[in-house]
Amino acid sequence: MTETLIPLAGVIGNPIAHSRSPRLHRHWLRTYGIAGDYMPLHVAEDDLEQVLRALPKMGFVGVNITIPHKVAVMELVDHISDRAILIGAANTLIFRKDGKIHADNTDAYGFIANLKQGAPGWQPNAGPAAVLGAGGAARAVIIALIEVGVTEIHLANRTRPKADALKAEFGSKVHVVDWVQAGNMLDDAATVVNTTSLGMTGAAEFRVPLDGLRPGTVVTDLVYSPLRTRLLIEAEAAGCVVVDGLGMLLHQAVPAFERWFGLRPEVDEATRAAVLG
Ligand code: ATR
Repeated sequence: MTETLIPLAGVIGNPIAHSRSPRLHRHWLRTYGIAGDYMPLHVAEDDLEQVLRALPKMGFVGVNITIPHKVAVMELVDHISDRAILIGAANTLIFRKDGKIHADNTDAYGFIANLKQGAPGWQPNAGPAAVLGAGGAARAVIIALIEVGVTEIHLANRTRPKADALKAEFGSKVHVVDWVQAGNMLDDAATVVNTTSLGMTGAAEFRVPLDGLRPGTVVTDLVYSPLRTRLLIEAEAAGCVVVDGLGMLLHQAVPAFERWFGLRPEVDEATRAAVLG
């Protein structure tokens, strides 16, 4: 008798216990009545390759990849999407029926989908974007902003050479500003994005001066713990349109869920509530 296999997915990271992805995917599985499951998978760097080769044999259709494996995993897969190559990291793996592992990155998609949902009137060409931070998340954000038509990006990072390197890679649309001057980028910005860990529970406080924020500017923070960061609270008080970072987490998961389970899920209030628990 052939057994019907239940499709499994999960998220590989280290640490992983705090990940909200299991709640998210399990909520969608329940909502759409799909028999399947999604697990947090604690995997050390040295075991990553072996785990990836074993998972498809156990019914896994794919996994999300999170810190610290998003770059290292690229060496271990059979095929990498152009998007993941451009971002330089993968967050979604698809285990294909032919045994090959396909890597993709849905962070840029998730960032834009969240902005569009949270600020429906947002226009990429309304004015310059100000981006704080030049780490892995900033790369995905800059690629996404350029792709949707933002023509001018002001970029500030504590470690300036990392911002200069992004400018060297992404070209004349990116203008680097010293970290101490970061507040000055806000006066004429139509879009403001914090990609640093500043303001996250347990991290250093967000201290960039915010008096330059103007009413109508769309302000988003990739930090979602706490949900309402100091940046978002002050931006809202200044009359800005604020979009929290939880939505990016939810939206980046949409294409992955669709690839694995065959149905494109909605990001709605029930999704947010399920994840916030
Ligand atoms: P991610 O993948 O989330 O972007 P990352 O690559 O480690 O993570 O990047 C973290 C970002 O937060 C960087 O821009 C980092 O600045 P540096 O490049 O100078 O390290 C920024 N960051 C972290 N702690 C910071 C702090 N105390 N002050 C200013 N920026 C900080």
